Amino acid sequence: MTIDQAIQATKGIPGPIGVFDSGYGGLTILRELRRALPDADYIYLGDNARAPYGNRSFDLIHAFTLEAVRHLFARGCQLIIIACNTASAKALRTIQQRHLPGIDPARRVLGVIRPTAEAVAGLTHTGAVGLVGTPGTIASQSYDMELAKLHPHLSLYSQACPMWCPLVENLEADGDGADYFVRRDIATLMAKSPDIDTLILGCTHYPLLIDKIRLYTPQGVSIIQQGEIVAASLLDYLRRHPEMDALVTRGGATRYLTTEEPEKFSRLAAVFMGEPVEPQRVRHLNDI
Ligand code: DGL
Repeated sequence: MTIDQAIQATKGIPGPIGVFDSGYGGLTILRELRRALPDADYIYLGDNARAPYGNRSFDLIHAFTLEAVRHLFARGCQLIIIACNTASAKALRTIQQRHLPGIDPARRVLGVIRPTAEAVAGLTHTGAVGLVGTPGTIASQSYDMELAKLHPHLSLYSQACPMWCPLVENLEADGDGADYFVRRDIATLMAKSPDIDTLILGCTHYPLLIDKIRLYTPQGVSIIQQGEIVAASLLDYLRRHPEMDALVTRGGATRYLTTEEPEKFSRLAAVFMGEPVEPQRVRHLNDI
């Protein structure tokens, strides 16, 4: 069966919630989604073979994300969370506006930037907000645009951290190299304004570096992780869209797919999810 045939065959049939990231980062979102909505079924897809996306061109990030979305649709997902800021920044809007109407207008693809931008105003007192993210996310200025729309009184100070995702993807989050890069990039960001009192971790990989981030962030600065925010936003979305809520199967099961070696994936994912993880390898996202 081709991807297109599988998408046709699953139209309107309840399925799991799809959660997509370039690699491991989306697990930080999946964990909170499962906490908030434990009875739903999930399929997690990590494109670890091609991660990180953050230093790649717009065209490639768009093409890879579209492949992942179509793959998850073909596996029966009616609702997908792009649990990746880089893909949300570079591909989400085009997928929602240009591709989804032709693929299946009833399905939904949601991102992580909008809910994070919505939540931030309630958290800062000084109005000066720091943002760390991949070069792709920072260059896209997606957070600047969302915040300008939602909370124009806030000032955003951004810092691209090109090495943080590669450290996580290479299982070096606890090593000395991570200390060097986290300390350096946070110091550079904080030098941009003494008023920053809130720091958005604008990459779903970054909670895997949280100990080091806490260590090098000045006391009194609140660190915002996206997992809980995205989970709360999904609950709210499903409350407002009972037709989509009815298209989510409820068995409490999670399946994991990775484009890389399953053994490598299962080691980190098991630590992170607190249970054994047995991923299935998908060599090509265009095959089902
Ligand atoms: N977790 C992704 C994000 O939130 C990482 C992107 C990457 O692969 O560089 O941006």
